[in-house]
Amino acid sequence: MKYETQKIAYWFFAACMLLFSLQLIYGFILGFDRMGFDVLHDFIPFNTARAVHTNLLVVWLLTGFMGSAYYIIPEESEREIWMPKLAWIQLISLLVVGVIAVIGYHFNHWEGRKFLEIPRELDYLVVVNVLTFLLIIFMTIWKGKRKTTTAMVLFFGLLMSALLYLPGMIDFDNVTFDSFFRWWVVHLWVEGVWELIMGAILSFLLIKLTGIDREVIEKWLYVIVGFTFLSGILGTGHHYYYTGAPRYWLMVGGVFSALEPLAFLGMAMYALSMARRGGRKNPNGIALKWTLGCAIMSFVGAGFLGFAHTLPGVNMWTHGTLVTAMHGHMAFWGAYAMIVLAMISYALPEMTGRAMHKHWMAEWGFWLSNIGMIAMTGAFGVMGVAQVYMERKSGMDFMVVQESLEVHALGLVCAGALLTLGIVFFIRNFISYGLPVMDESKGAVGGNPAPAAPDKLL
Ligand code: HEM
Ligand code: HEM
Ligand SMILES: [Fe+2]
Repeated sequence: MKYETQKIAYWFFAACMLLFSLQLIYGFILGFDRMGFDVLHDFIPFNTARAVHTNLLVVWLLTGFMGSAYYIIPEESEREIWMPKLAWIQLISLLVVGVIAVIGYHFNHWEGRKFLEIPRELDYLVVVNVLTFLLIIFMTIWKGKRKTTTAMVLFFGLLMSALLYLPGMIDFDNVTFDSFFRWWVVHLWVEGVWELIMGAILSFLLIKLTGIDREVIEKWLYVIVGFTFLSGILGTGHHYYYTGAPRYWLMVGGVFSALEPLAFLGMAMYALSMARRGGRKNPNGIALKWTLGCAIMSFVGAGFLGFAHTLPGVNMWTHGTLVTAMHGHMAFWGAYAMIVLAMISYALPEMTGRAMHKHWMAEWGFWLSNIGMIAMTGAFGVMGVAQVYMERKSGMDFMVVQESLEVHALGLVCAGALLTLGIVFFIRNFISYGLPVMDESKGAVGGNPAPAAPDKLL
């Protein structure tokens, strides 16, 4: 850790681990519901659990992005964070809003606008919180010694994410309009500006881990990420098929969203070739695994499985089924969960001076969680395709179909358990690192962790 204030990132990452664990618990509630064991129905019905599961996902990822920014920006700008006390307040208020929202879901029925279920009063608090965060990051870059492309792309991605939250706050009586603008948030986040955030973190990690020149990495990576971003804008049309939006969206959405996977493929190939060309500047092999894993799995989950249902002729049948959940899980995991876990894996040894990344738990955490997610995707895929055929092609009754899918949900829950075991290892390893220190004798300052660091679990 080069700068004292970078340790703020540690607490964002710790919050991340906590919220992620909660998300997984709600994942199990959903999985058991799907198996037919709806025992919690009176307290936590399926729709509530679903809203909590997906909203917690978005919040822990945003917390992870913020932590990453608090770690990356001081290093890129070569100065301490501007007004660090404000950053602490920002973290605490973010958690307070998160807790109120999660508790509130259990008492109110705010659902209905997937991913954007929180009530308006809390929306305003989110806006104030995010503006504070952006101000701190902006001032740090502004007052910094250098302004790198990576810092700029990261800031721009975060700023645009905040601005794109606003269309989701407009109220419409008309359901077509409401859904039209809801996608400006949900789609333009994950297939637009979040990709810039991911690209910037990816670039930072590749520079640090492979030792390849910044100029080389930044130039091509941002061309590729820019292509994903641009195709994603008109690609929004893949959510406008048959919703009451004009017919030309069938063509526009189909063509542009079909281009998106190419950009994801380019990113995966580029990251792999950079890793092959570069030396191993940093001994942290597990951070490199998460980094390259992210580039590959985001292609599989977002690019490949996204394409699987993006053409109008396919989406007509699969829309809103478990085929969507199949893609949603692997895409969020590959692109965003993995980049946050990569950043945490890189930053922890740098912040604490310990070499826990060599521990078997770090390795097993990576493999088990990824194998678990691949298996979960398979289970959702089988359920989804079966659902489409029974419900939509054969016209069977909705509830009869849901019941006949229960047997596959057992596979889903087993796969989820594997993923969760991997994440338990990851978190156990996280805790064993201990707290961040500014201790030059441990070699934690900017360089590699000292070899003498304890390798055992604490
Ligand atoms: C990292 C990037 C991505 C993430 C995190 C992601 C995630 C998701 C999620 C969660 C949904 C469900 C949304 C909802 O119903 O509210 C969804 C829907 C969809 N995604 Fe993606 N996606 C990504 C990229 C892509 C790409 C590149 C494509 C196309 C090639 C794609 C195609 C689709 C389509 C067609 C739907 C609508 C499914 C339906 O009609 O039910 N996605 N995505
Ligand atoms: C223990 C592991 C997990 C289980 C058992 C699980 C299960 C589920 C279930 C049953 C649903 C509802 C699908 C439906 O509508 O019927 C769901 C939704 C969702 N989950 Fe998970 N989940 C788990 C972990 C995760 C993880 C790690 C992520 C992200 C990285 C994630 C992201 C999502 C998303 C984005 C949706 C909404 C999908 C859509 O709109 O179609 N889940 N999950
Ligand atoms: Fe989309």
